[in-house]
Amino acid sequence: MKALIAKLPKAELHLHLEGSLEPELLFAIARRNGIDIPFANVGELSRAYRFSNLQGFLDIYYQGMNVLRHEEDYFDLASAYMDRCAAGNVTHVEVFFDPQGHTARGVSFGTLIGGVLGGLRQGGKTHGITWRLIMSFLRHLPEKDGFETLKQAEPWLEQICGVGLDSSETGHPPEKFSRLFAECRARGLKLCMHAGEEGPPEYVRQALLDIGVDRIDHGNRAMEDASLVAEIVNRNITLTVCPLSNLALKVIGRVEDSPIARMLDAGIPATVNSDDPAYFGGYVNANFEAVAGGLGLTRGQIIQLAKNSFSGSFLDGEEKARRIAEIDALGA
Ligand code: ADE
Ligand code: ZN
Repeated sequence: MKALIAKLPKAELHLHLEGSLEPELLFAIARRNGIDIPFANVGELSRAYRFSNLQGFLDIYYQGMNVLRHEEDYFDLASAYMDRCAAGNVTHVEVFFDPQGHTARGVSFGTLIGGVLGGLRQGGKTHGITWRLIMSFLRHLPEKDGFETLKQAEPWLEQICGVGLDSSETGHPPEKFSRLFAECRARGLKLCMHAGEEGPPEYVRQALLDIGVDRIDHGNRAMEDASLVAEIVNRNITLTVCPLSNLALKVIGRVEDSPIARMLDAGIPATVNSDDPAYFGGYVNANFEAVAGGLGLTRGQIIQLAKNSFSGSFLDGEEKARRIAEIDALGA
């Protein structure tokens, strides 16, 4: 299965760029920016990556991104991620970034997006990887802060394909952001929301029915509600599942408990993604390998997951068909 997974072209649809900040790069950037970090070395930092839930992870994640200050830091981060994609045969990426995690520390929107776009462009050109950028709002902050971020993003909206909603889920339901997401839709942006990672099925329902999202990130807990599963299937909504993230954040106890096979069986177009690979121990192929082994996925299911990653992307219809035909042409 490992060889099949490596050979398949894949898209990654759920990746937080800040979550791809590997300890080595974090240390290197901290050093060049003269920032002290409370860990003696890369090994000590990596050992701190043990989490008991989403909030425990987020506390470390926001601390980690604090080393990013200058355009070149964001450039290096984005281009390092593209190198990882190339190594894993990930040929299309739709990347989240969290501007509020940077602008709150005094980094300008222009600095961070300039570096991110530069790194994505260079990596895209070097490796022949296509990419889209998705601006995520932090849901623990008020909706009005999101409107402020949207205003800051205005000069770059042509380069931003869609918006997302992430950070602490519990207590921050999708409906808190209904006006902001309506405004984003009116501006032609695609809509994604994290829902059902820790939050209840009701949050997935709100994202789907009240907000009208194009894609749901995680969506695990939707599986608790059969009528919600039927809605997801009827609307053909892609779920971006992140098995190693789920394991690291104790959303599931064992990889065998990943809902991904049950989602496929129910007719949900589920996909496999890495979320925050520097923190959760693996990029896209490692996530595929984990569920392939843990759930005993068939070759057909693995090929289906790779196809779903393109059909659920924000590429146009013709390009999706071309990428899926490439998979068929492998005769895998
Ligand atoms: N930000 C980065 N990773 C996240 C996740 N898995 N859930 C919510 N917010 C996040
Ligand atoms: Zn995520």
